[in-house]
Amino acid sequence: MSATAARPAGNPAPTAWSRIIGTGSCLPERVVSNDELAAEMAQRGVETSDSWIVERTGIRQRHLAERGVTSSQLGTEAARRALQDAGIEAADLDLIVVATSTPDFVFPSTACLIQANLGASKAAAFDVQAVCTGFIYALTIADSFVRIGRARNALVIGAEVFSRILDWNDRSTCVLFGDGAGAVVLQASAEPGVMAAKLHADGSQTKILCAAGNVAYGEVIGDPFLRMEGQAVFKQAVTVLDRVAHEVVEEAGVTLADVDWLVPHQANVRIINATAKRLGVPAERVVSTVDLHANTSAASVPLALDAARRDGRIKRGDTVMLQGVGGGFTWGAVLARM
Ligand SMILES: CC(C)(COP(=O)(O)OP(=O)(O)OC[C@H]1O[C@@H](n2cnc3c(N)ncnc32)[C@H](O)[C@@H]1OP(=O)(O)O)[C@@H](O)C(=O)NCCC(=O)NCCS
Repeated sequence: MSATAARPAGNPAPTAWSRIIGTGSCLPERVVSNDELAAEMAQRGVETSDSWIVERTGIRQRHLAERGVTSSQLGTEAARRALQDAGIEAADLDLIVVATSTPDFVFPSTACLIQANLGASKAAAFDVQAVCTGFIYALTIADSFVRIGRARNALVIGAEVFSRILDWNDRSTCVLFGDGAGAVVLQASAEPGVMAAKLHADGSQTKILCAAGNVAYGEVIGDPFLRMEGQAVFKQAVTVLDRVAHEVVEEAGVTLADVDWLVPHQANVRIINATAKRLGVPAERVVSTVDLHANTSAASVPLALDAARRDGRIKRGDTVMLQGVGGGFTWGAVLARM
C-alpha cells in the first residue's frame, strides 16, 4: 500500500493539535493536619510529628475521603467543573481517560462509571494505570486521539483514594498521601496546544514502590498495602524528572527558558525544589500544592494545574511543563501551551 493512499471513507481527518480548554478539581471535605494525624497515630502507638513531616516532605495537611467515597465520585465532580470551565457539555465528549491506581472496582473501569454519571453517552471510556505518572500517560494518550482525529473533545481525569491502600501503622508511607481528583478537557485546535510529550517506564524497579497484593480464590494474596523504599524513590525521581524535562523541550524545539510554569508531580517539596534547581526554573515559577494536598498520585498534577489556573497564575498562552513520576517505575512529561 502506498504511503499516499487515500484515507478510507469514514476515517477521521487528523488535526494539528490538542489544547487544554478547561480544568477542574475535587477534594474530599475532610482535612487532616499533621498534628491531627500524629495524634491519631499516637493512639495506635505509632510515633510521628508535624515537624518531622514538614521538614522531610513539605506536607502540612491532606484531604481524606470518608468511608464509601470513591475515585469515580471525586473524578465525576472534578470532571463537571472542568466541563463547566471549558464551556462544553458532557454529550460533546468523544473520549474519557481516567488515570487511577485506586479504581472503584476491578471492572467496570472508573472511566465507565464517570461516563455514566456525566451522561457522556457518545464517549469511549477506559482507565490507565501508571500510578503517580498516570495523568501524564492519560493526557498523552488523549492528545494522540485528538491529533489523529479520533476524538474532538476528550476528558482526562486523575482520581485517587490512596488512603484505602495505606498501612496506617507504617509511618514511613501513611503520612505522605492524600485523596482527590483533577481533570482537564482537551479539544482539537488549529494552534498549540500540547507541544510535546514523553513517557517512560522501568519495570525492573517495581520493588521500590508497589502495592504487590491482590485478591485471588477468595483470599488476599501478597501484601496489598503501599510499600516504598523512600530514599531509592527520591534519588530516582530527581534524576528522571531532570532528564525528561530536557527531552520534551527538545522535542518541542524550545528551551527551558521558554517554560513559564513547572507543574511537577506533588510528592515531596524537596524533590520539587531539587528538580526546579537542576532545571534552572525559579521557585516563583513552580506550582506547589503538596503542602495542602500531600501526594494524591495520579490526581496531583491536574489538582496543581487547576489551582494555579483558578488563582490566576497560569494564563492563556503560558507554556507549562507537567511532570509525573512514580510506581512502576514510571515517569514522563508533557509540554503544553495553555
Ligand atoms: C519518605 C521520606 C520522606 C523519608 O525521609 P528520609 O530522610 O529518607 O528518612 P528515612 O527513611 O531515612 O528515615 C529516617 C528516620 O525517620 C523515621 N521516620 C520515618 N517516617 C517517619 C515519620 N512519619 N515520623 C517520624 N519519623 C519517621 C525512620 O524510622 C528513621 O528512623 P531511624 O533513623 O531511627 O531508623 C523520603 O525518603 C522521601 O521523600 N522519599 C520519596 C518519597 C516519595 O516521594 N514517594 C512518592 C513518589 S511518587
